Amino acid sequence: MQNSFYVNTKLIGLIGHPIKQSYSPFIHNVAAQLKNIDFIYLPFDVVSDDLENALKGVVALGIRGLNVTIPHKEKIIKYLDELSEDAAMIGAVNTIVNEHGKLKGYNTDINGLLESLTEFKDFITGSKVCVIGTGGGARAVIYTLIRYFKPEQITIINRTIQRADTLHSYFSEKMRFDNFKTADLFPPDLIETFHSSELIVNSTPVGMFPDVDDSPTDLTESFHKDQLVFDMIYNPTETKLLNLAKQQGAATLGGLKMLVYQAAKSFELWTGEELPVENLSDSLELMITS
Ligand SMILES: NC(=O)c1ccc[n+]([C@@H]2O[C@H](COP(=O)([O-])OP(=O)(O)OC[C@H]3O[C@@H](n4cnc5c(N)ncnc54)[C@H](OP(=O)(O)O)[C@@H]3O)[C@@H](O)[C@H]2O)c1
Repeated sequence: MQNSFYVNTKLIGLIGHPIKQSYSPFIHNVAAQLKNIDFIYLPFDVVSDDLENALKGVVALGIRGLNVTIPHKEKIIKYLDELSEDAAMIGAVNTIVNEHGKLKGYNTDINGLLESLTEFKDFITGSKVCVIGTGGGARAVIYTLIRYFKPEQITIINRTIQRADTLHSYFSEKMRFDNFKTADLFPPDLIETFHSSELIVNSTPVGMFPDVDDSPTDLTESFHKDQLVFDMIYNPTETKLLNLAKQQGAATLGGLKMLVYQAAKSFELWTGEELPVENLSDSLELMITS
């Protein structure tokens, strides 16, 4: 509910680069309207060199909070005053709350991941998992899997293999999970890893709108029917990766549910209100697919 002069309106924002692909402004602005609360959510395209100044602006202007998206989820940490326990373990932040001038970082991607993956818990527990990517999304998924799903083994695949090694060491130390492997994003290493994994997670932006014909690597004969392939990308709702996995018999899961539930937790942190999840999931899907 915005009064006509916006004198009591609270501002929330999104910072990332690029941000045009984001549906977060739609989600949070519609949610605020449905809940009849006086919040506005705006996207800000901010490059890495401007992060510190952008956060000074948040404090100076009394902005209530921010979402943080690619590629800033890790770099932003050094400019925050405090971190939630989960965000500190993960080493990535997707939500900032401004509490009277002190900026606290949270990671609500965990909430989105839990809602998305819980129905597959029995399948994932004790299984072999591979995660493609090493950014903020990959960190959240590795943390969530180890903490809540207890897989037997996690293989981290990345274009830059040194980053996979760094992440492996980070989580081995932080979470005392030793059964990590790393693998190249190229055959034959990759195909072998795919074939032996029950859960495959894409945590790279490859295949995201507008470059929907891209896939992280050559994916012919990569999947089989005893697998779940999860792409964290939500636009398009079915990426090329998911389409190929489905054609080869695997079960598939897109990133839309994760998007809605990470947003729900962020919305609650900023406003103290529940996000109307059902209404938003339907209208989001309609908007993306139309
Ligand atoms: N559904 C949701 O709610 C949700 C939540 C979080 C994230 N996501 C999605 O997950 C994806 C990753 O997000 P993020 O925050 O983790 O991003 P990020 O921090 O920018 O991570 C980038 C990762 O992708 C890899 N990568 C980038 N371009 C590549 C290319 N052309 N070929 C191969 N690998 C490439 C990078 O490899 P290098 O290390 O070699 O550079 C790095 O490992 C995005 O699409 C994001 O929208 C969705």
